[in-house]
Amino acid sequence: MASRRLFSLLLLIVSLWTTSVQSLDSDPMKCNSIRNEDRIDCNPDPPISKEICEQRGCCWNAGNNTDDDGGNLISRALPHLGVPSCYYGENYIGYKIEKIYIKDEDLSMTKLKRVRPSGFPKDIENVNIEIHQLNDQVLRLKFIDANQKRYEVPTPKLNIPSVSKSSNSRLYSTEISGSHLIVRRRETNQSIFDINLAQMVYSDQLIHLTSKLPSKYIYGIGEHREPFRKTTDWKRYTQWTRDQVPISDHALYGSHPFYMMVENKTKLASGVFLFNSNAMDILTQPSPAITFRTVGGILDFFIFFGPKPEQVVQQYHNLIGLPAMPPFWSLGYQQCRYGYNNFTNLNQTYWRTRQAGIPMDVQWTDIDMFDSYNDFTYNHKQFKELPDFIRNVLHKNGQKFIPMFDCGISSGETAHSYRPYDYGVELDIFVKNSSKQIFNGKVWNGKSTVWPDFSHPNATKYWSKMFEEYHKIIEFDGAWIDMNEPSNFYDGQIDGCPKTEIENPQYVPGMTDDSLTLRHKTLCMTARHYNDQLHYNLHNLYGFQEAIATNEALKTTLNKRPFIISRSSAPGHGHWASHWDGDVISDWSSMRWTIPSILNFNLFGVPMIGADICGFIGDTTVELCRRWYQLGAFYSFVRNHNVDNAIDQDPVALGETVVRTARSALIYRYVFLPYLYTLFYNVHQNGGTVLRPMFFEFPDDDHLYDIETQFMWGDSMLIAPILYPNQTENKVYLPKGTWHNMGQTFESQGQYFTIKDSLDDINYVFFRSGSIIPMQEPQNNTEMMKSKDFGLVVILDPKNPEHNAKGSLYLDSGDSLDPVKKGEYNFYNFEVKNNTLTIESQHLGYQTNQSIIVLEIFGIDRKPTSIIFDGKPYYQFIYTTNNMLIIQTKLSIYNNDNDDKSKKIHYQFEWKFN
Ligand code: GLC
Repeated sequence: MASRRLFSLLLLIVSLWTTSVQSLDSDPMKCNSIRNEDRIDCNPDPPISKEICEQRGCCWNAGNNTDDDGGNLISRALPHLGVPSCYYGENYIGYKIEKIYIKDEDLSMTKLKRVRPSGFPKDIENVNIEIHQLNDQVLRLKFIDANQKRYEVPTPKLNIPSVSKSSNSRLYSTEISGSHLIVRRRETNQSIFDINLAQMVYSDQLIHLTSKLPSKYIYGIGEHREPFRKTTDWKRYTQWTRDQVPISDHALYGSHPFYMMVENKTKLASGVFLFNSNAMDILTQPSPAITFRTVGGILDFFIFFGPKPEQVVQQYHNLIGLPAMPPFWSLGYQQCRYGYNNFTNLNQTYWRTRQAGIPMDVQWTDIDMFDSYNDFTYNHKQFKELPDFIRNVLHKNGQKFIPMFDCGISSGETAHSYRPYDYGVELDIFVKNSSKQIFNGKVWNGKSTVWPDFSHPNATKYWSKMFEEYHKIIEFDGAWIDMNEPSNFYDGQIDGCPKTEIENPQYVPGMTDDSLTLRHKTLCMTARHYNDQLHYNLHNLYGFQEAIATNEALKTTLNKRPFIISRSSAPGHGHWASHWDGDVISDWSSMRWTIPSILNFNLFGVPMIGADICGFIGDTTVELCRRWYQLGAFYSFVRNHNVDNAIDQDPVALGETVVRTARSALIYRYVFLPYLYTLFYNVHQNGGTVLRPMFFEFPDDDHLYDIETQFMWGDSMLIAPILYPNQTENKVYLPKGTWHNMGQTFESQGQYFTIKDSLDDINYVFFRSGSIIPMQEPQNNTEMMKSKDFGLVVILDPKNPEHNAKGSLYLDSGDSLDPVKKGEYNFYNFEVKNNTLTIESQHLGYQTNQSIIVLEIFGIDRKPTSIIFDGKPYYQFIYTTNNMLIIQTKLSIYNNDNDDKSKKIHYQFEWKFN
C-alpha cells in the first residue's frame, strides 16, 4: 500500500517537474509549434537579421530558406518571398485587447493597446477597431488611430450601404476569441477573415496584418500579369501604380486591393476590399493566408458575403460605384497606331481598312499627331488635313475620333505661348513640390513637364476648359488618357527628391529590385497636392481622379455619354472610365495573359476592357495577329494599336489572311452587339461581370476554377479561341450541358471537344442552351446599325422537357446622357415556355422604328406541324435539318399607338406538333 502511495507521489513529482520544465521552457515564445507555411513575417524590412528579429521579440529560424542571407537585401526584392526567417511566435503580444463594447446594434468597438514596440518607427499606441454591420451581406472593419486622425482615402464617394437594423438573415457573424478577430459565414461557420490582433503592426509608415484564408481559391488583386487564380505559394502582389510594360512579378498601371475567394466544398464565395490608397504589398502564403502591408492611411476593410461569385462582385461594385454605360459606338472596332507620323499614312490606313469591308467605328491618333508632343495641339504641317477628315470623312460616315490626352503638360514652352500651361498656372492647379513651387519633371514634352492636380477643386474647370477649346479645332468624341500613373522620365524632379522619411519609408512595398524606390519613374513622394496632401498618399489615385475630371470635361464639351480609356485605374474607376492593358508585347504569351487581365478588370468593376490587338511592342506576325483578332473581337474594348517603331499591323497591311480573319470575327461581333450592350446595361444597373469566368456560371465544376483560356459573355456565350501557334484544331472545354456553335450541337458531360480550325468560321463561340440572344444585322459601323432590325437566337435544350429559355434586350439612342435615369430606353424580356416564345416590353422610353424580323430557334427535334401567332396560324417559317426552326416576321418593338402610350409590346409564337 505504502509503496503504491510512494509511487503515485513520485508520479506526481515527475509530472509537476516536467510541466515546470516545459514552462521554464525551451520555447517560451512558442516558435517551434508554428509550421513553416503559417509563419508571419516579423522582419519584412531590410536589413533582415537575427539580432533585429530577437530585439522585436520574434522567433528566428533561418533554416535553409531565402531570408538567411545575412542581411543581403536581394531576396526581399523578389516577389516570391519564401518562408520568413523571422516570425511571430504564438505567445507574441504586440497589441493587447483592452476593451470590447457594443456601441449600438450595428456597431461594436474593440480597443487595442500596444504593449511592445513593433520595430517600426512611431507605433500607434491605441487602435480602435470598429465593426460595422452594414447590411446582411456586407461588413466593414475599420482600424483607426484612437488618438489622432490619419490620412483616409478622399474619393471615391463610397456608396456605403445604410446601416440595417439587427437582422436574422445576416450572412456573417463576428467574434473575438483570444487575440483573434474572426468573421464567419453563418451558414457554414467557415471563417472568412481571421486575424491575430496581437501580431498586427500599426505604425505611422507600416501597417501590417494577416488573415487566414478559407481556401486556396483566391481571385482578383491587381493590376498584375498573373494567373487569374492567385497562388498562395509565397507571393507578393504590390499595389503601386507604375508605367510598367506588362510582365509578371511587377506592379502595373492600376491598383485594386480587392480579392474574391471561394470556399472549398460549398463553393460559396466572399470578397474583401481594403479601402486604402497607399503603396501596399498584398502577400499570400500556403497556410493559406493573406497579408496586407501598407505604408500609410488606415485599415478599412469591406467584406462581402455573396454567396455566389457574381453576387460578391455586384456587392463590391455597388460600394465603389457601378460601371458606366458605354456609348454603343464604343463597342465597335477601333484602330490606332503610334507613328502614323503624318496624315497621309493615317488616311491610307483608314481607307484600306474601309475598302476591305472591315467594320470600324473609331479612328485614333497618338502623340505623334501633336505639335512637339504637347497636349491640346496638332501638327499643322504633318496633320494639316486632320480636322477636315474628322468632320467630313469620319463624322459624315457615322464614325468617331479619339485623340490622346496625356496628363503631363509642357512647362518648357516660351512664356505665354502655350495656354494649357498658362491657364493651369492662372488657376494654380498644378502639383507642387515640397517647397510649394510647381513640381517639374519630364515626360514626352521637350524640356519639362508639370502635372495637373486632379484632386484640386479647380482641376475639373481647367480640364473642361482645355477640352472645350481643343474641340473647336479637333472634333474628338472620346478621350484616351495615358501616362497617368503618373509616369515621369525622372525619379522625381531633375535633381531628385528631398531625403525624408516620406521618400524613404523603412518598409518599401515590393519593387523589382531594391534600387527602386516609390518615386521611381514618378513624382516625389513629398510632392504636394491640394490641401497639402502628399503624393505619397494620393499616388495610386492619380489616374482615377483624372478619369473623373475627364468624364466631366467630356460631358461639358460634348453633352453626350463620355467614353474614356485610361491606363491607370483604382477602385471605382469603372464608374467613370474604362481601361486597356497598356504596352503589351506582340507575342503569344502576352496575348494569352490578356484573358486573366480582362477577367480581373471585370471583378474590379471595369468591364470595358481590352488589350492592343496584335500586340503593342515589337513586330507582330501574320499568325499571331490573326489569332489576336479572333480573341480580341470578344474583348469588350476592341482596338488595334501599335508602337511607333514596329511594322504596320492594321489587317490590310498584314495581308489577305489577316483581313479575312479580322473581318469575319468583327462582323460576328457586330451581329451580337445588342447582346453585349444589354450585358453592359445589366452591370450598369446591378454591378457584376460582362466578360465572365466560366466558374461563375458553373460553380460545381472543379475543372473550371483554373481555366483562363476561355471566358464567357454574360451567361449565354462561351468564347474559346486558339491561343498557341501552329494549331489546326482547338481543344475546347464545355461545361456540362448542351451547347451550339451555330454549326454543331455539343452534349457535354463537362469535357473537352476538338474543333477544327477554319479561317473564316467563328466556330469557337458556343451558345448555352436555355438562352435567347438578341442579334442585329451587322453593318460597317454601329451608327448604320441604329436603324437596322433585330433577330433572336433561341437555344433550346432538347433534354429539358420544358424546353425553357430566357433572354433580354436593352436599347437606347446609343450616346445620350443618363438614359436609364431619364427613362429614355427600351427593355424587352424574351422567354420560351411550353413551346411558346413570348416577347414582351418591360420599359418603353426610346422611340424607334426597328423591328424583330427573324427568330432562329435551335434544338427543336422535329418539324412543327403548325405555328400559332396572335391566336392564328402562321406560315412564314422553315425547319432545317440541323433542328432549327426559322420564323420570319416583322414585329415592331415600339408602341406607335399614339392613343395609348402605356400599351406594352407583347407577342407570342407557339409551335405545335400534332
Ligand atoms: C504609352 C502608351 C502607348 C502609347 C505611347 C505613346 O506607352 O501606353 O499606348 O502609344 O505611350 O503615347
